[in-house]
Amino acid sequence: MSLAALKAHADRLGGASLRDIVDGRGPALSDWVFSAAGIELDLTKQRLDADALASLLEAADSLELAHHRDTLLSGGVVNPTEGRPALHMAYREGAKISGTDAADLVARTQAQTREFAQAVRSGTYQPSGKAITRVVNIGIGGSDLGPRLIADALAEFADGGPEMRFVASLDPSDLRLAVDGADPETLLFIVASKSFSTQETLMGAEAARAWLSAHVPADRLGGHFAAASAAPQKAAAFGIPAERVFDFPDWVGGRYSVWSAVGLSLEIGLGPDVFAAFRAGAQQMDQHFASAPLAENLPVLKGLIDAWNRVALGYPSRCVAAYSARLGKLADYLQQLEMESLGKSVTLDGAPAPTAGGALVWGGAGTEIQHSFFQWLHQGKDIVPVDFIGVKRHFASADARERALAANMAAQGAALLDGRQLSEADEGELASHKSMPGGRPSAMLLLDDLNPQTLGALIALHEHKVFVEGVVYGINPYDQWGVELGKVLTAGILKGETKEYDASTKALLDRTGFGGW
Ligand code: F6P
Repeated sequence: MSLAALKAHADRLGGASLRDIVDGRGPALSDWVFSAAGIELDLTKQRLDADALASLLEAADSLELAHHRDTLLSGGVVNPTEGRPALHMAYREGAKISGTDAADLVARTQAQTREFAQAVRSGTYQPSGKAITRVVNIGIGGSDLGPRLIADALAEFADGGPEMRFVASLDPSDLRLAVDGADPETLLFIVASKSFSTQETLMGAEAARAWLSAHVPADRLGGHFAAASAAPQKAAAFGIPAERVFDFPDWVGGRYSVWSAVGLSLEIGLGPDVFAAFRAGAQQMDQHFASAPLAENLPVLKGLIDAWNRVALGYPSRCVAAYSARLGKLADYLQQLEMESLGKSVTLDGAPAPTAGGALVWGGAGTEIQHSFFQWLHQGKDIVPVDFIGVKRHFASADARERALAANMAAQGAALLDGRQLSEADEGELASHKSMPGGRPSAMLLLDDLNPQTLGALIALHEHKVFVEGVVYGINPYDQWGVELGKVLTAGILKGETKEYDASTKALLDRTGFGGW
């Protein structure tokens, strides 16, 4: 983003009254509400006006955003440090990439996972003579957070499918609880790992195999495992038969992979049709992203506004407040999607990035979060833009609790915007304690209803808005070299290479009697 061009706007608007900006929109207020694919994006409470937005869109033009978008959507190399395209859109239901190798592979894998999911759901797949009643996904990061979020979000669509459980942690209790109470002969473990070499996942899978071997004879063990991986030889070496190792190609980034075979636990637990509807919703958002004018394009606008807040106004974090019990894991999911993608400090050609990268993303589910960290949002010194994610139907629901949920969300947006100024004359010495500064911007993303289509569209919207921010910051959103160092150091610690470490780390290992070597 050309800071120089936007600085004047930020100087003008940064300290202005947000109430004045918002009320000043007048009849044009509705121009700040955009819709596509069953989602309404309300930007009316953002700290910018029409002139600043026009400058942002000009900046997008000068960065050739539309050209970069077309490169992404046509399978160009958008991940130059790994020499790859980012083709997760190929998995969306109805995606138009026919004729390419990727299309063939996607069609083949989707037919395989659908058939397997149906066999498991119908009870015809019986590795130990009993139907599967629980699937346990073992994976971490992108091989965990997507399936975990969607399993929760769409739980009411499962229609009697096997239970879905998730194991990501090295803490043995995670696996213990995931299998607790289950008949081992009715369990299916899915090892989701592109590399099939991630420590947490491999140790979890080995522990699962060891546990299961106490209950199931060795010749039946492999029947209780399936995998999604780009390393089929490693999965085979682990003991998973080739027909149940589903392709997770290297041109699908981990945090963009929920649409692929990584979603196998969902395809089984929720059913292939629900999973397909989820992918179809994402495809609607892809089409919108590909064809809507930039000034009406939800992912483009959201990406530009988030960059505006981060870079021009200097807000270092963004809070995701989902007003739905079913979306309680949305903030965790977006945290990885955005922070692993945009937490970079060099441009595509390796030069120091001229601006900050993406914001710190955090949040939770409302109204519970109102009783935990919202105090800090209202009266803390830092300004944090909030994204409220809600369900439009709730506003006019016949259910009083749904209406109350919507009212709470609306009230929080208004409270953050306006704050509360109390005079000492009325409140006495507590006036300053009870006052709230306001002036805190928020956006609202309203799903028509929470269903597979709108959820798919919501996730795709965020994937694309991350891409837009990547273009603005000039960085590569598809690599994640920053997570490597910790992996190398862990391996060194486990091997006992203590001389490599700083005095503090070495002392910690000595003091605690570390048993790794
Ligand atoms: O945390 C780094 C990371 O590489 C993520 O990007 C990825 O989703 C996760 O690890 C798991 O990787 P894999 O699927 O190869 O096990």
